[in-house]
Amino acid sequence: MDPASLRRALLDWYDAHARTLPWRAPPGSGAAVDPYRVWLSEVMLQQTTTVHAAPYFEAFTRRWPTVSALAAADDADVMGAWAGLGYYARARNLLACARAVARERGGVFPDTEEGLRALPGLGPYTAAAVAAIAFGRAANVVDGNVERVMARLFAVETPVPAARPALRRLAEGLTADDRPGDWAQALMDLGAMVCRPRSPECGRCPVSTWCAGFASGAPERFPVRAAKGAKPERAGVAWVALDPAGRVGLTRRPDKGLLGGMLGLPTSGWGGGEDAAPGPGPWREAGAVVHVFTHFRLTLDVRVGPGEGDLVWTGVEAARTALPTVFRKALERGLGQDLSLHSLQVSAAGSSRGVRT
Ligand code: ADE
Repeated sequence: MDPASLRRALLDWYDAHARTLPWRAPPGSGAAVDPYRVWLSEVMLQQTTTVHAAPYFEAFTRRWPTVSALAAADDADVMGAWAGLGYYARARNLLACARAVARERGGVFPDTEEGLRALPGLGPYTAAAVAAIAFGRAANVVDGNVERVMARLFAVETPVPAARPALRRLAEGLTADDRPGDWAQALMDLGAMVCRPRSPECGRCPVSTWCAGFASGAPERFPVRAAKGAKPERAGVAWVALDPAGRVGLTRRPDKGLLGGMLGLPTSGWGGGEDAAPGPGPWREAGAVVHVFTHFRLTLDVRVGPGEGDLVWTGVEAARTALPTVFRKALERGLGQDLSLHSLQVSAAGSSRGVRT
């Protein structure tokens, strides 16, 4: 694999075939793109497709042409305009972020991935996307499309979601300082238009020469799903929120459902998503833990940061005692006391037999 040739081939393809979208600069133009428009589009696109998002994007930017205008909007107006885009938590995060940029930064977005990550409600994907597309930073922008492209290019046999960290590293290996925004969007367009989930069109793929999935003769086999009969894979995010006294923020889980009534760490839903962060962060990525329940295997990406609000603030030792194994693993990961793979496997095996999983 020669990354430079592969990059050139994909960027050439993007120059000829990029989708025209209202938040984009024409490929290769090097034209400045307004970070507000990039950020807004990326938040919308985490929720829905480009076709569905486009009219919402046009309506938002007509009504609130700048981040400061959005910051000054009534909450109810923004929620109303968001209706049809799903999850209101995202719209609330959007407003919190717009207000931080308007009030604390004079309406100017930070121009680095780290600076963007420090804004409230702005997750790692959005920070990478805005850094690359609006500011030309060589950030590693990985969404579901990019994961699929990497799984095929490198014929990754590890099933998803366990393969996610590896797919991210493979994408990282292809990033470069040359045209980072176009590169990120070229990968997205390739995933959406050519390297499609069900019927990839390898005949018109600009990078099939380098594609191990294509060479295998069955590119649609990637990303590999866990074998039938194996436990289904689920994935989510767990937050280790720490207050200034070093206590951990826990939540009481609903009475009904898995681990009902027990204390837990705040988590997203287990189908992904980062909406439920218990505070604006900044959240540091602390890696992932795997836990095997009776009926599924769960991968939790752990984030650590300062928390606030309506949580059960608990000393670390008491939390260790109170938490069910899956959350204790995530807590230890967040506190930097990574349990070894061996002990994870032992406790996962134990927990799949036990009642208290
Ligand atoms: N999906 C997420 N961000 C996108 C972008 N900038 N262009 C196309 N599809 C996307």
